[in-house]
Amino acid sequence: MNILGISAGFHDAGISLICDGEILFAAHAERYSKRKHDSEINAEILNDCFVQFGIPDRIAYYERPWLKKTRQLYAGQYKDLFDTSIEDKIRKIWPNKNPPDVEYHGHHQSHAAAGFQTSPYSDATVLVVDAIGEWDTASIWHAYYDDLGQAKYQKLWSQKYPHSLGLFYSAMTKRAGLKPLDEEYILMGMAAYAKYDANMYGDFLDSGRDLRFKQNLHVGCDEYHPGMTDFEIAASAQYTLEQCLHDLLERVSRLSLSDNLVYMGGVALNCKANERLGAYFQNIWIMPNPGDCGSSLGAAALSYGRRLNWNGPYLGTDILGPYPVKDLLSELLTKKIVGVASGRAEFGPRALGNRSLLADPRGPDIKDRVNEIKRRQQFRPFAPVILEELADEYFSMPIGFQTSPYMQCIAYCRDPKNYPAIIHADGTSRVQTVSKNCSSGIRQLLEAWYEWTGCPMLLNTSLNIRGEPMVNDRADADRFEQLYGVKVLS
Ligand SMILES: [Fe+2]
Repeated sequence: MNILGISAGFHDAGISLICDGEILFAAHAERYSKRKHDSEINAEILNDCFVQFGIPDRIAYYERPWLKKTRQLYAGQYKDLFDTSIEDKIRKIWPNKNPPDVEYHGHHQSHAAAGFQTSPYSDATVLVVDAIGEWDTASIWHAYYDDLGQAKYQKLWSQKYPHSLGLFYSAMTKRAGLKPLDEEYILMGMAAYAKYDANMYGDFLDSGRDLRFKQNLHVGCDEYHPGMTDFEIAASAQYTLEQCLHDLLERVSRLSLSDNLVYMGGVALNCKANERLGAYFQNIWIMPNPGDCGSSLGAAALSYGRRLNWNGPYLGTDILGPYPVKDLLSELLTKKIVGVASGRAEFGPRALGNRSLLADPRGPDIKDRVNEIKRRQQFRPFAPVILEELADEYFSMPIGFQTSPYMQCIAYCRDPKNYPAIIHADGTSRVQTVSKNCSSGIRQLLEAWYEWTGCPMLLNTSLNIRGEPMVNDRADADRFEQLYGVKVLS
């Protein structure tokens, strides 16, 4: 039976198709509409999925709309109460206008399932931290499989709207002059350039232990300390977020449910804060798409009820043909920068080698050259992608993350002078480690690059036209080539 999971209606809409435990397809709506963080699914993404894998038998949705409406009523979001129903939205773009019935699952449980049912664990403590869904904004679960292999979820604690760590960080993103629900990752990058003010924690938190805030940050906090620079706001917001995560982890670890942590929700994308997780848990799993888009997979997983076969994040649209290792190598050796759009697109916000702009990480001028192509702020760091078996030789990895296949933690380079392009102002790097079993050709490219140069890593940043989502298909790659004069190989 084919089950289609859908997340939509707020931001970062997506779909996931599973069949008997196999994940057949998973993608972001924005990659098809070319609207960043698009909140609605579209006919193009359905078409790409259905042409390859057939029309689904069942639809699972990642939220309970009526429960959400009670929260929207409480929050005064009256306009949202009259939104078109998800059934009507689906019917409008469904190929035969006659979709199967929709079954509904809770927002946080969908996050939890997207994590637990793709994880290698038989039981786990699940922590979900996000901005806003129905009512829950942070929740702790015990997840396990029963004797029949059915996934079971026991909710042990939750905090509810308006007390929300995600909303706090988004309010600070706006206070620092950035776009909330979009540029939180830039705020995280800015945090390295100023000293934090520890008072921010007490200014906002009533009780850190219970994640209770003194004010409703859904309405923003634009007036907060006008004298603080945007960089000081960023540093202090990052400090406060990390303190709150510490408070939550203390609570989680006191429950002593399992040595395995599954961590999900949009806040799990904050790789700087994730540095703390290893102090509490031996084993950590963060599905590479822990935000709302990834919950399309969670809803489908809940409908299926059993463990999913996780083979990696390359689940989206397919650019056919072998990974162009030889040509990429030759461009890197001569021009030092090249794009690649090959194989299936990544499911998640990070380019992990199939839709990437790659560069030689050595030498002083590379960072500026890549920044110029991407036309982005000079202060922002780039990530290294490295052969997994050599990661420890080049980076001091944080406890709990012996490997980092999905760029989910930060590490410290042991030889920063030689690799300035991938070192942030605070000396950290957001490392992607690539194992021998990785299904992307990025592994073979790194092996070839290492053989030629003795350097086991490349700079890896997402291949996207400024203001647009990541490149999806060959037509996007062609536009990138024309606009920026950088080859994109398939
Ligand atoms: Fe969420």
